[in-house]
Amino acid sequence: MSDFLTWDHLDGLIAGLYIVAGVLFIAALAGLSKHESAKSGNIAGMAGMGLALVATLLKASQNAELDPYDDLRGVGVTLLIVLLTMSVGGSIGAWRARTVEMTGMPELVAMLHSFVGLAAVLVGYNSFLDPNAPTVGAEATIHDVEVFIGVFIGAVTFTGSIVANLKLSGRMKSSPVVLPHRHLLNLCVILGSVALLFWFTSFDGYAADHAALIPLLGMTALALFLGFHLVAAIGGGDMPVVVSMLNSYSGWAAAAAGFLLDNDLLIITGSLVGSSGAILSYIMCKAMNRSFISVIAGGFGSDGAVSGEVRDYGEHREIQADGAGDLLANASSVVITPGYGMAVAQAQYPVAELTAKLRARGIDVRFGIHPVAGRLPGHMNVLLAEAKVPYDIVLEMDEINDDLADVDVVLVIGANDTVNPAALDEPGSPIAGMPVIEVWKAHDVIVFKRSMATGYAGVQNPLFFKDNTQMLFGDAKDKVEEIIRNLST
Ligand code: TAP
Repeated sequence: MSDFLTWDHLDGLIAGLYIVAGVLFIAALAGLSKHESAKSGNIAGMAGMGLALVATLLKASQNAELDPYDDLRGVGVTLLIVLLTMSVGGSIGAWRARTVEMTGMPELVAMLHSFVGLAAVLVGYNSFLDPNAPTVGAEATIHDVEVFIGVFIGAVTFTGSIVANLKLSGRMKSSPVVLPHRHLLNLCVILGSVALLFWFTSFDGYAADHAALIPLLGMTALALFLGFHLVAAIGGGDMPVVVSMLNSYSGWAAAAAGFLLDNDLLIITGSLVGSSGAILSYIMCKAMNRSFISVIAGGFGSDGAVSGEVRDYGEHREIQADGAGDLLANASSVVITPGYGMAVAQAQYPVAELTAKLRARGIDVRFGIHPVAGRLPGHMNVLLAEAKVPYDIVLEMDEINDDLADVDVVLVIGANDTVNPAALDEPGSPIAGMPVIEVWKAHDVIVFKRSMATGYAGVQNPLFFKDNTQMLFGDAKDKVEEIIRNLST
């Protein structure tokens, strides 16, 4: 290293890179909030992450060079270890990202959140065992508290995200797993953890004194249980709030790790993810008509007292693709409400083609998007943008609901829970209180799905039995393509 730029002098450069990266991350979040700017938001995020990696490599080299306890590893060895682990992790990540189906994204995201949680736990333990850590005085107490909180948030995020992954991938049943006295149990876990914190901070020179490991391990076990219990108790229909809540927790876990690693950028990035996840959870709560406070306490959604019993709603009517084509050809206004089934069928491309064909005939076509349609926030918007459906005809649930009474035909493409009138009419339903797209107000409703099966929340849908509803059974992509062929002849 030259005289002008010594290891000691690198601090300024690293801090500068961190600030630029932090600003780019904020620009990424701002860009991602709108369709039109999402691409540039992504580019800003990637550039920020690139700079963050460079700065982190510089910092790791600097630490290796200046660390008085580290005479075994030189800068070269440190860099080699970091680059090697990064390339192994990066290759696995790139392979998963390339191979994952769009429908598998939610469980992948949940799994990635669990890694952040696990990383925070490991960073916490590493910092606990670090011989450089302060061992006496106020500094030691602050460090103790940082370790404890970091491990706690990380452990809750870890098991909570694993349960979310299992529920989203269908490997664990989506209905709530409710233990007796669930809220009391959660409260005991939190109070028990606070008691262990006092015990943990009571040791002087704890890094050397492994007795402090007992309260730390005890709290870790409690927090792992809490993460499992909070998410397992939440029913299928409420999973969107859980996904965004875990997103927020993973951000706070990363911020906690940032404090322990003395890494400002990790603190900034973690806080950005934590707070934007919290805002998203708030928006989701409003969309689902749930209380934000009870979400944070993990005590929301169905409380085991709901009923999803099978009712006799009468007979359903069926329609074929040619009949659906005739209805559409004679309509002057059409609304399309897509759901998870559109993602499964990959029907967004024929849906975009059908939209273009109808609009070419002078028919007014709009989309009504429920905030939790699909399995990810913004899932439907991403699919429709991918298929190049114009943004200005893609409306939110609140924007479309008032107009539905004047619409001739609604096409429900693979949506179920998000158009279920039971949410409004049946107080005992697991989805009771959730606002839905009120498609039944339109003159005619055509529901594209393969069977009479329930949606994600496992609730029967009385929409399918209404007088103005007709079921078009089959794969959504095949059926939309059939309608396009009929319209062309
Ligand atoms: P769902 O209620 O999940 O229903 C999707 C419907 O699509 C199913 O009833 C299924 O019926 C049909 N389908 C599946 N594959 C199909 C295919 N190839 N062709 C035609 N239809 C097909 O969908 P939704 O209305 O979008 O509601 C989303 C649900 O997921 C809500 O309960 C929401 O709370 C939950 N959730 C959302 C999120 C986020 S953040 N969006 C996250 C987790 C959970 P058939 O099997 O009969 O075809």
